[in-house]
Amino acid sequence: MLHNKRVILGITGGIAAYKAVEILRLLTKAGADVHVIMTRSAQEFIAPLTFQTLSANPVHTELFNLIAEREIGHISLADKADLFVIAPATASSIGKIANGIADDMLTTTVMATRAPVLIAPAMNVNMFTNPIYRNNEKKLRRLGYLFVPPVKGSLACGWEGEGKLADPETIFEAAVSALTIKDLAGRTIMVTAGPTREEIDPVRYISNHSSGKMGYALARSAARRGARVILVSGPVNLPPPHGVELVGVTSAEEMRRVVMARVGECSAVIKAAAVADYRPVERSGSKVKKQARELTLQLTRNADILAELGALEQRPFLVGFAAETDNLESHATTKLREKNLDMIVANDVSQSDAGFNVETNRALLLFRDSPMVECPLMSKGELATVILDHILSAGLS
Ligand code: CTP
Repeated sequence: MLHNKRVILGITGGIAAYKAVEILRLLTKAGADVHVIMTRSAQEFIAPLTFQTLSANPVHTELFNLIAEREIGHISLADKADLFVIAPATASSIGKIANGIADDMLTTTVMATRAPVLIAPAMNVNMFTNPIYRNNEKKLRRLGYLFVPPVKGSLACGWEGEGKLADPETIFEAAVSALTIKDLAGRTIMVTAGPTREEIDPVRYISNHSSGKMGYALARSAARRGARVILVSGPVNLPPPHGVELVGVTSAEEMRRVVMARVGECSAVIKAAAVADYRPVERSGSKVKKQARELTLQLTRNADILAELGALEQRPFLVGFAAETDNLESHATTKLREKNLDMIVANDVSQSDAGFNVETNRALLLFRDSPMVECPLMSKGELATVILDHILSAGLS
């Protein structure tokens, strides 16, 4: 995701400095080349060696180290950065940046960079609400600096309140978003994900192996690219992606009601959910007891949500998924035509590295009026990017 991206991670002196280790790990895991700058007081909390080992790059601590470096360190780092993240950022470092004070490696490099700067403050609640701090933040925001606001919690100083560094995951997500072109801005995209559950009685249900990973990857990727995202999700064990509106549902009928009520807001609907085709004719109000040797469960068809969307007079761009175990292309082509879709993503779910409950996928993308595209094995995040690229180039309004 962040391959070929160079990120400077600036660490200032706060107790939350240890959380920068996790931020560094998330950035490097995503493929970024991370260069750490630590202030003198940050080094009181955590040793540079930790960051040097994890980033595989020297940690910068001194403004003038002309013997070790052939280039002028702060200028060359500033020039090569795609993004500058400061986490944790103390009130003092934010005050310096807001007022043009460049007296150490970190503040000098921030001032010299033309890359976006993302600041994650951490401080005592009274410092955070102090008008001096507030003015500094306001000034920086006006100048285009990005902020990940601190959260409420019990602070190391003993106070309760706002000032706790945001989660490493949230800061990472904001960093990815700052590095992502907002080519879906202004669009609302609805994504359905996960399985549905059709209840037999209060303790049993019919469902399928869908984990929701593909739908969640699509929702996350669309939100990073600037779309407003409505994620309609069946029951899954996944954290909701940052910045999406999550609507949790259980049954196919519930999913149908939400989708049909919200479709008018959308430029595109991507139906990655594995919707149950049938539900029990009757749901027993009490637990069904075992009696005879055999039990017949009578099922009735659920409405096909995607086909209903396809039949709308005014419909958004429609993307379906086809989960198949055989004749992938022909089954998917039939679904594309019969459900009146613009695009369908066909998966062979019988393969162990694609389809349900795995991190990877391979797919055929079929379109109403352009040639088929074959996507080789890739992560679900990468496939999400490819699918969204195709939706965009197909002329999403
Ligand atoms: N779908 C839907 N409502 C249903 C069933 C399916 O909206 N009641 C959508 C799925 O979200 C998916 C597409 O239709 O985008 C295809 O789903 P799939 O399960 O592959 O196929 P079905 O149409 O159910 O046909 P079959 O089960 O016979 O393969």
